[in-house]
Order: sequence, then structure tokens, then C-alpha cells
Amino acid sequence: MALTPQQTSRTQPTVTLAIDIGGSGIKGILLDQTGQPIGERKRITTPQPSTPKAVLSAITELVKGMEKFDRVSVGFPGVIQLGRVKTAPNLDQSWPGINLVGELKRQLKKPVRAANDADVQGFGAIKGKGVELVITLGTGFGTALFINGALVHNIEIAHHPFRKGSTYEQELGAPALKKIGKKKWNQRLAQAIETLDRVINYDRLYLGGGNGKKVTIELPPNVTIVPNMAGLLGGIALWKDGQEKTASAADRAKPAKAKLSRTASQAKAKKPQAR
Ligand code: BGC
Repeated sequence: MALTPQQTSRTQPTVTLAIDIGGSGIKGILLDQTGQPIGERKRITTPQPSTPKAVLSAITELVKGMEKFDRVSVGFPGVIQLGRVKTAPNLDQSWPGINLVGELKRQLKKPVRAANDADVQGFGAIKGKGVELVITLGTGFGTALFINGALVHNIEIAHHPFRKGSTYEQELGAPALKKIGKKKWNQRLAQAIETLDRVINYDRLYLGGGNGKKVTIELPPNVTIVPNMAGLLGGIALWKDGQEKTASAADRAKPAKAKLSRTASQAKAKKPQAR
């Protein structure tokens, strides 16, 4: 029987499963060696409560029926350090401390790398020249900063004061958009763009995330809207040289009781040195 084009590509190099975990949806797509999508994007609603267990089994659900893949990239809506979750403001509060990479490795039985969702989206958006800032407008307010293509990991502008004692995320996240409507939200966004330009002095700014399509203001020439798909396409970058240290888990990390042992070793590391 003749092979379909998709079956033929199976015999070709590495297929990456890119996953984007969001506050409202979990998306997935397969990428070929060059980062081009193979087949359709899949999406399922983020379970509520969005506990690690529920989200991880939703990922199993998402992957069911997908073609085979060799490795996995994950964008996570919070700070990720060495594959482990440090913060997850828009998911269940039991996430911090979870070894995301370790858990998914066991579950999917493939090598896994993970990074902050805005960082991953940034990789899918940037040109790789100069100072580039990426903002994702979704449930939360994601930010990623790149200098000549090199990522400054886990830049978190979301929870810093923006206006009237509220943070960027409180003023521009999805609940704010719902509450104040598109017009006011766009005015706030214009103010945020202006403020961040003064602070970061970026050469280019990209606006992504699901609510990127709600942007109606006239944008300065160095500001572009990028499709939310960049959040998946950027996943390929986690497998490029230089990302292995930050995006993968320290292999020695044990999923169970990981939090306890990490705290103990951190405490030890922070102890002042006797001289
Ligand atoms: C988190 C960021 C994340 C953003 C978008 C914020 O609440 O702090 O890490 O990138 O939401 O998901």
C-alpha cells in the first residue's frame, strides 16, 4: 500500500509535540524537524480546578489520536526553572514545586522540555535582532525579553504595578477585558505599550496571545501583532542548542517528595558561609 505524505514524514527526522498550557485552553500540535506544523492544532478546555493531576490527564487526552512524536515542548503559564514550576498564577495553587518535565516524561515516555508560555511564544515571534519584547494577552499577561535572539528567561512584568495600584495582569488580563470592554481595554493597552517602551526601550514589540485579535488601537511602527499559534510554533526552539540546561529537568529530580528535598537543599545553599 502506498504511503500517505504524513506516513512518509514518519520515516523522516524528529517530530516534536508542542503543547501550550493556558488558563482557558490546552493546545497541541506536531511540528516537523524545521518547526513547521504537521496536521491540525488540537485544543481542549483547561479543566477546573486546574490541578496538576487534572491538567496532566487532560494532556494525555489531547495527545490521544495524534500521530507519533519523538519529543515534547511545553509552554507553561508561569515561571519554570529547570523543568520545575515556580509559579502558576492562573492555575490551581497546588502547582508550585511540581516537576512538570519529570511528570510529563513519565507520562508520555518521551524527552520533554518546558519553559514559560510567553518565552515559548516569543521564540515563535522574534526576528533575533536587537532588543525584542513579547507580550501575550490571554488569561494572564505574559512577557518575554530577547537580546539578539537570546532569551532572558522568566521575565515577569505581569504582577508589577501598572496603574492605579493595579498590576499589568489585573488591568489587562482576560477578566479585565471582560469587565471593562474592548474600548477601555485597548486604551489601557496603549498606555502599557508606552510605559514599557520607556522602561525597556525595545527595538520591537510583539503582541500575541488569544486576545491579540482584540487589539484595535493604531500601533507604533515597531509593534506587531503575532498569531497565537506562535505559542506552539515557538516550541521547536526549546530543542535548539543552548536551551537544554534551562528547559529540561535536572534528571536527578524525583517527582515524588521533590518539593521537600528541593527546599532542604536550597536552604543549605543559602546558609551564610563561615569564614
Ligand atoms: C504569569 C506568566 C505567564 C502569563 C501568561 C502570568 O500570570 O505570571 O508567567 O507567562 O501569566 O500566561
